[in-house]
Amino acid sequence: MQPLEDTPEWNALKALRPVIEGQSIRELFSHHPKRFEDYSLEVEGLLADFSKQPIAPPTRQALLALAEAREIEMQRDAMLAGKPINQSEHRAVLHTALRVPAGVSGWAGSEVAAEVDSTLTKMTALANAIRNGERRGATGKPIEQVISIGIGGSDLGPRLILEALAPWADGPPVHFVANVDGTELDHALAACDPERTLVLVISKSFATPETMANAHEVMAWLRRRVPSDAVIAQQVLAVSANLERVQALGLDPALALPMWDWVGGRYSLWSAVGLGCMLSLGPSPFNELLAGAHAMDTHFARAPLPRNMPVMLGLCSVLNRSVLDRRSQAVVPYTERLGRLPAYLQQLVMESNGKSVDHAGYPIEHATSPLLWGQTGTPGQHAFFQALHQGSDVVPVDFIGVARPVAGEHGDALELSANLFAQSQALMDGRDGESVSAEQACAGNRPSTTLLLDQLSPARLGALIALYEHRTFVEAAIWGINAFDQFGVELGKGLAADLKPVIAGGKTAVGLDGSTAGLIARYQRWRG
Ligand code: F6P
Repeated sequence: MQPLEDTPEWNALKALRPVIEGQSIRELFSHHPKRFEDYSLEVEGLLADFSKQPIAPPTRQALLALAEAREIEMQRDAMLAGKPINQSEHRAVLHTALRVPAGVSGWAGSEVAAEVDSTLTKMTALANAIRNGERRGATGKPIEQVISIGIGGSDLGPRLILEALAPWADGPPVHFVANVDGTELDHALAACDPERTLVLVISKSFATPETMANAHEVMAWLRRRVPSDAVIAQQVLAVSANLERVQALGLDPALALPMWDWVGGRYSLWSAVGLGCMLSLGPSPFNELLAGAHAMDTHFARAPLPRNMPVMLGLCSVLNRSVLDRRSQAVVPYTERLGRLPAYLQQLVMESNGKSVDHAGYPIEHATSPLLWGQTGTPGQHAFFQALHQGSDVVPVDFIGVARPVAGEHGDALELSANLFAQSQALMDGRDGESVSAEQACAGNRPSTTLLLDQLSPARLGALIALYEHRTFVEAAIWGINAFDQFGVELGKGLAADLKPVIAGGKTAVGLDGSTAGLIARYQRWRG
């Protein structure tokens, strides 16, 4: 594919920058009374309002022309058909195949569909057996707690799901352990009765040091505390693509649930990585989650570009980042249930699109992934919103709201929604310096998108996450980068492995920089 900079469509879009910067989003509404209708889209109870983005008809035309020139539809179809679009690793990218309802054809190779189906069947049987007490711990006690060990994509998605869907949970609670600092592990072990605990060790590679270290700890705890030789076989389950390493940890690979090289870690919550969610929520809500994601996949696959939600949101993102040079992107969900969404999206967006070379390995000149961050509203309003309103950087915001609460949940819906809608209004309108002092003036004209869900159900959550997956894909497709590898992360991992023997004191550091050597020396001294 041609470098982005060489395409006339990119240069035509970039040429609009002064026009876009000179226009008032507020005034776009005065010129176009039906702007909200024309610049918002609705898919299955999820409304995306991007009318507060700096897009007038010429910009929309230029963005869509760029999407055509970058052959977004062809790239999308190649992904959905299982072509090896992850070129650096020669792999297909088929997370969408994980959420195709049984019996629906035409999405992915039949071999993949059969594997997906059989894994889902195994997960369901296991979840039902554990939830109804048929499958028990090694000493015959029912499973009442789950410890889920994993990190990155083997952790963030399931955590998000279980926090968001807590009102649906009627099975064993899941304690997540990602970090190796011991805090989460200590909490989990303190909360669990070893004879009534199932441990999930989730790692695609089964080589991630944090996960392996935590797995060793928990397995040692089980061996110490459960008077049965069968405890590991009965109470520890692996989810992995690497069965040799599963065996090396002392687990039976025949009992492991699979991951596949065609599913990236950060796209894997729909697979057996979601087993903890299914255990806690039950198979039905988990299947609804998959169905919601599939509904968004279907929309992404079929809707024409101007009416395609992930496409239009991806184009807004490209406009803000690469044309208008906005370096960061805030995500503010107005429900504590989605408090984990910013962390989840940090991996999805920044691990996917934080790249500086194109598919062919050539350096690229345009900016790629924004730095994504955020926190729930309203608490975020009392922390960082000052900078959003008056700071020197313009930060596009994704506001996420939910119209209907889950039955029986408390909360002041009016207060919450008033704040949600007021913030995007205030960012756009600002406050001019004629009526107030200079300190009180807000420039306004700051862009945002509002995603409004009719309710936070399993299906809507699935659709919301799939929307962000596809938006990320669209950005990468325009930028000409591979969203599915992550070689940068590997560098840090490798260096940590090299430093371990140095810190432990058994090996002398050769060629270490002065800062790292100094830090290690002080650390060693303080640890005695
Ligand atoms: O952070 C790098 C990474 O490779 C992620 O892509 C992945 O989700 C995470 O580590 C965990 O990897 P694994 O599932 O192999 O333990």
